[in-house]
Amino acid sequence: MTTNTTVRLGARPIGEPRHSDWIIAQEAIPEIGPGQFLVRVDMISLDPAMRGWLDDRPSYLPPVGIGDVMRAGAVGEIIASEHPQFPVGMGVQGAFGVQEFAVSDGQGVTRVDPRLGTPSMYLGVLGITGLTAYFGLFDHGKPKAGDTLVVSAAAGAVGSVVGQIGKINGCRVIGIAGGAEKCAYVTNELGFDDVIDYKNDNLREAFARTCPTGIDIYFDNVGGKILNAALGNLALNARVVICGAISQYNAETPTPGPSNYLSVLIRRATMSGFIVFDYVNQYRTAQKRLAAWVAEGRITAPETIIGGSVTDFPDVLLKLFTGDNVGKLVLDISGSRR
Ligand SMILES: NC(=O)c1ccc[n+]([C@@H]2O[C@H](COP(=O)([O-])OP(=O)(O)OC[C@H]3O[C@@H](n4cnc5c(N)ncnc54)[C@H](OP(=O)(O)O)[C@@H]3O)[C@@H](O)[C@H]2O)c1
Repeated sequence: MTTNTTVRLGARPIGEPRHSDWIIAQEAIPEIGPGQFLVRVDMISLDPAMRGWLDDRPSYLPPVGIGDVMRAGAVGEIIASEHPQFPVGMGVQGAFGVQEFAVSDGQGVTRVDPRLGTPSMYLGVLGITGLTAYFGLFDHGKPKAGDTLVVSAAAGAVGSVVGQIGKINGCRVIGIAGGAEKCAYVTNELGFDDVIDYKNDNLREAFARTCPTGIDIYFDNVGGKILNAALGNLALNARVVICGAISQYNAETPTPGPSNYLSVLIRRATMSGFIVFDYVNQYRTAQKRLAAWVAEGRITAPETIIGGSVTDFPDVLLKLFTGDNVGKLVLDISGSRR
């Protein structure tokens, strides 16, 4: 390989990102200098948050600049190094971007430890989505045995792990997912106690059926109507964890707030948001616990790994919004260079 194929942001999308919003470029493989290393990117993480990074508005990270390589978590192998702690041959995970080769100085880069899991697991259950489930549930959901825990996008990367950690901690877990097939997966494969099909069920009836004593923890990944319906079914002292709101990320007009928000007052509930990056100093401990649960068979870590090249990124990203993934969505570009 002599060139580096990159995906750069060409224009800020309005609504769903289109092909014309991206620039696919063939560039020279970057040179490294002292204290740097070169990574051959093998797998790229697809995350709903990517949509938010494309908008020019204040957020927890600066927007991706027009012309910049698209920001993305990725795993790969070091193929050249002038950094003593990152030798050639080491598997690494970091924000390497949507490109085939990336230069790094080691900031925010972690070693992929094959004793804990596979490279793709470092983008999923041992990566940002698993850690999001872990810290969001423990720090904000505060699960107790016997709690009714409801999680939306339950078959997704974060949701699948939230529900399974809830089960480990003695919660009664109800998932919300779209369509009969995903709902069957949530109960049969992930072991949730019950499931709501938000595409086909009446939400009011479904919450009454599955949560007769109310919701103690609502872990929200989707926002919108599902959040509103959950707020209308809170138990006393409920914890509402705002993790994400994928139903709103492509909205072209402002989304109205939940009309049931006064339930927070009536039910003496708390509603809190969080960003996983705030827990970076605790990642290692959480990764070890998550890896142990996977090894013991107590957590199943579903993945949807799409083989292709970096040029497939614009299409694969959209799968998150059409619900084509079960578990962690990953673009595997390792085969595109053979
Ligand atoms: N706070 C943090 O630090 C943090 C970190 C990482 C991720 N997150 C958030 O966590 C959430 C889940 O992320 P993920 O990476 O695990 O993605 P994911 O759940 O694996 O994939 C997204 C899923 O969302 C569902 N979905 C898409 N559009 C929807 C809609 N309009 N209404 C309801 N459901 C919809 C789809 O499942 P169905 O087929 O079931 O519809 C889809 O499979 C996102 O909101 C993300 O932004 C937050």
